[in-house]
Amino acid sequence: MRRTPASLAAAEPGPAHTIEFDGRPIPALPGQSIAAALWAQGILAWRSTRIAGRPRGAFCGIGACYDCLATVDGQPNQRTCLLPAAPGTTVTTQEGHGRADLDLA
Ligand code: FES
Repeated sequence: MRRTPASLAAAEPGPAHTIEFDGRPIPALPGQSIAAALWAQGILAWRSTRIAGRPRGAFCGIGACYDCLATVDGQPNQRTCLLPAAPGTTVTTQEGHGRADLDLA
């Protein structure tokens, strides 16, 4: 039997629903964070750094490092490790500071 976080905790979550990541549907379980839902699909990066454009995803998983930032439902700089993957949530990869609309060079 494959060991998963849910099996280790003997969790019995309800049926999966769907969030959207860069236009593609991603299954998510009730109570799962956005970062956990992306990880479960093998997606490890959803942000690029401001200076070098290097890929980033979840690192600490507890809201301390800010590596997991993404644009969520149109709001940039959201920590995906802290946000629940609610049905219909739209997540977009964030480039740099995530505020291209402000023209911050
Ligand atoms: S992974 Fe560190 S703040 Fe989200």
